[in-house]
Amino acid sequence: MSKISGFSKLTKEEKVNWVTDHYLSNYPKAKKVIQQYWNSDEMLQRLHDEFTENTISNYYLPLGIAPNFDIDGELYALPMAIEESSVIAAASKAAKFWQDKGGFKTEVLGTTKVGHVHFDFKGNAEELKHFFTQIKPLFFSSTASITKNMVRRGGGIKDIQLIDKTQELDNYFQLYCTFETKDAMGANFINSCLEQFGQTLEAEALTHQAFKTENTFPEVIMCILSNYVPECLVRAEVSCPISDLGETQEEANRFVKKFSQAIKIAKIEPYRAVTHNKGIMNGVDALVLATGNDFRAVEAGVHAYAAREGSYSSLTHVEAKDGVFKFWIEIPLALGTIGGLTSLHPLVKLSLAMLGNPTAEKLMRITAVAGLAQNFAAVNSLVTTGIQKGHMKMHLMNILNQFEANKGEREEAVEYFKTHTVTHSEVISLLERLRA
Ligand code: MEV
Repeated sequence: MSKISGFSKLTKEEKVNWVTDHYLSNYPKAKKVIQQYWNSDEMLQRLHDEFTENTISNYYLPLGIAPNFDIDGELYALPMAIEESSVIAAASKAAKFWQDKGGFKTEVLGTTKVGHVHFDFKGNAEELKHFFTQIKPLFFSSTASITKNMVRRGGGIKDIQLIDKTQELDNYFQLYCTFETKDAMGANFINSCLEQFGQTLEAEALTHQAFKTENTFPEVIMCILSNYVPECLVRAEVSCPISDLGETQEEANRFVKKFSQAIKIAKIEPYRAVTHNKGIMNGVDALVLATGNDFRAVEAGVHAYAAREGSYSSLTHVEAKDGVFKFWIEIPLALGTIGGLTSLHPLVKLSLAMLGNPTAEKLMRITAVAGLAQNFAAVNSLVTTGIQKGHMKMHLMNILNQFEANKGEREEAVEYFKTHTVTHSEVISLLERLRA
């Protein structure tokens, strides 16, 4: 293991040399593999290099398409960036299934984002409240240059409240700030506003007579947006007559009974809820990634929302009443369609164009639908055939790729596994037999 200082100052080639010399000496193909993934278009490569720091290569994910999504009466083909087999196939299957049953209906329930100035104050809380009310207009005026463009687009700072948290943590207060960021995800905008609020708070406090008398001033701990966005919420729904869900009424009833029970299990059993919601995130993340959004932010916010009532629970809900099956999702999604990677990454631009260059609200709707579709497909398989059947077929291809099977071997394998169960060891032994 080797230490280095000034690594970031090395050229890309020097970085590759350093890492291959010090950490990959037992991997002779290392340099070749790293370089194999460089784009031959130098400008394009430089663009990718500069997205982050210390770049040595590109890490590909497949970009696939799930067509036939009828969302609020419009047809979409969804771009999905994901490495997991079966996800795109499942999404496409669910889209097709619901296409002739009225499609997906969506509603944006809110677009408010949140950030905080977290600060300590040891003095009189009533005096702090008084001070806050007095200086509140200054928070808006001192950020006017930051908010100008956002306000022009219909967004900006919605409100700022002083919250006393001292019951939960000694000396802890916060400015709870809400924002509307329109088509931008808004992280930079929000954090810039918050840092200015923090400065204004401390600067104004220094001249506040009551604080001076007591020699106690608010001290800013940190200013940061929250990725918990329960008020940036979207709902997507499908519904149809129960009788449409089976060849016979009896089959349809049985399906709905098992499906509904599966959702109820995910509501009350966190072990199941986590896997259930993971399946939803297969669809959500694939869309979030393809459109250049921050999937870590979305993941963190979604899971916090799933646990908002004190126990981790399902993000989807079901109702079977008066002969109608209704299945819906409610999910917080802070997404952007301008700024960040959206105007930089050519495949992100392409993905957004494929979706008709949507507003952030429209992208919220589409993404919620991807999650709902994915969950419908997963639970449908789970309560009927089980997921392994479809999964293992795709898995077979991955194993064959791993062992560099040629065309003939692939055809033989597909034929053989029509009547045999796919397991890793079974595929290997078939390849060994074919290659003997
Ligand atoms: C696999 O990536 C996702 C599933 O496990 C989701 C689920 O169980 O609902 C199939």
